[in-house]
Amino acid sequence: MLPSLFPRLALRASSSARRTLSAASSSIVPRRPLSDSHPAWRLGRLNHVAVATPDLPASVSLYRDVLGASVSPPEDLPAHGVTVVFVNLDNTKIELLHPLGNKSPIAGFLAKNASGGIHHVCIEVDDIEAAVKTMREKKIRCLTDKTRIGAHGKPVMFLHPKDCAGVLVELEQA
Ligand code: CO
Repeated sequence: MLPSLFPRLALRASSSARRTLSAASSSIVPRRPLSDSHPAWRLGRLNHVAVATPDLPASVSLYRDVLGASVSPPEDLPAHGVTVVFVNLDNTKIELLHPLGNKSPIAGFLAKNASGGIHHVCIEVDDIEAAVKTMREKKIRCLTDKTRIGAHGKPVMFLHPKDCAGVLVELEQA
């Protein structure tokens, strides 16, 4: 009797211990642990990948007619010097950017990349001001002194590509 009871007892003890542990951890440990290096804010989802294109109708046609994506009508954003089309994907967006006006921030990019290319990636953060503070502390160059209102009406900050493996990174308030 006894030898067969022991394993069962041990099993019961360990599974109840496991339950206690998981209950405790789910109430204490955040969904995604905060990083030791920046405890004040959290990185979120990929909001969009921005693609600069010299030929907006051709790019729209590619995503809508060939790839079958849902695509927004073009929207002029004079304050940002771009016309933008949103390609809506299940998990994120592609933003097609085309220069608008003669001081477009993507004109230089298209001069260097004649057929277009990935201009930047945008990642959400839950506290943009705290995130910018961390960037400054870690010597990651920010492209503006202060956050600005981006194309989605939310504060954003762009980080220097030379500090981000060659990619222009936009942080956006979620
Ligand atoms: Co963007």
